[in-house]
Amino acid sequence: MSRAGRGSAIVGWGQAVPDTIVTNDDLSEVLDTSDAWIRERTGIGERRVLWGRFGPRAGTSTAVGPLTATAPLGTTATLAVDAGRAALASAGLGPLDIDLLVLCTSTPDQTVPATSASVAAALGLRCGAFDLNTACSGFVYGLLTADAFVGFGMDRVLLIGAESCSRITDWDDRATAILFGDGAGAIVLEAVLGRGGLQGADFGTDGSLQSILFADVCGTFQMEGKEVFRRAVRAVVQSARSALSAAGAEAADVDVFVAHQANARIIEAVCARLSLPLERAVSILEHTGNTSAASIPMALATAVTTGRLADGDLLLISGFGAGMAWGSIAWRWGRPAPLA
Ligand code: ACO
Repeated sequence: MSRAGRGSAIVGWGQAVPDTIVTNDDLSEVLDTSDAWIRERTGIGERRVLWGRFGPRAGTSTAVGPLTATAPLGTTATLAVDAGRAALASAGLGPLDIDLLVLCTSTPDQTVPATSASVAAALGLRCGAFDLNTACSGFVYGLLTADAFVGFGMDRVLLIGAESCSRITDWDDRATAILFGDGAGAIVLEAVLGRGGLQGADFGTDGSLQSILFADVCGTFQMEGKEVFRRAVRAVVQSARSALSAAGAEAADVDVFVAHQANARIIEAVCARLSLPLERAVSILEHTGNTSAASIPMALATAVTTGRLADGDLLLISGFGAGMAWGSIAWRWGRPAPLA
């Protein structure tokens, strides 16, 4: 069927976090930092972690299927499975209803095979599955990819963003250890008649900027924080404008803004430049830190479950991060008539 007659709607959502909470005060005990500094510069108050100086600890994750044999305390895959299962339950679907799994992550459990294979097995899916890595923009690229697969003929796609950032964080580096956390968020996309939710999109990558934020294989985050901040604000503002323009909309039309949850000051700066009231931005980072590709679906799931989204609302989704890669999507919330 042609793309014109076949769109997608978000019909399920879920999220998962490890049990272990690391507060700013916990970090202040071992690093030269303070709760006041971290809150003022980032808006972050605590984060959930699986690994590092503060983990793994007993009982840090929900035990899931065969994966528990090798990773009893949780991994990217176990977080993804928990979030994916919650999304399937909220959509009222079972594993055999899913035609494709897309797992957005930059912290896979292994180099080979893709972590999506473990997740698909644990969830009991019988479909294709692949990983997608565009760091913190992963979910934006994933949503465009999943929507394209629906346009191509798939009826339901499970899209998950999951990360164990704590595994690639240097817990002795106060410049990065304060920022990151672990978690997973998931949505189910279903084919609908007509255009569906996707109204406009913009995305891009500038690989010449890799040096400002990267982690080598077996390495930890290396970051020029100020430069990332400056470029993130610029990229998100431009990208959001382009996506909204493609949708025939402008910032004033946006009802809910779900941005990558890296830093409250980045979200504030973007809102100010777009003249978008800050109250329209969803913020979960005080309790999660930066969970990379998981942050947008976690914020989206929170927005839905706290009643922030109503049918017909215009949702703006923006991601940015290592690459540098960025992307924005204008999405009309609601559930048009299903195809079947
Ligand atoms: N606690 C206390 N002091 C600190 C800390 C800390 N944790 N970290 C740095 N400082 C000090 C610095 O040493 C510096 O001291 P000096 O003035 O004596 O030299 C001072 O605080 C200011 O440091 P800056 O780095 O200039 O602080 P800034 O205001 O830029 O905030 C931050 C740093 C929070 C990292 C900010 O730059 C930022 O958030 N950047 C964006 C990072 C980001 O979002 N990364 C993720 C992108 S998404 C992805 O792909 C993973």
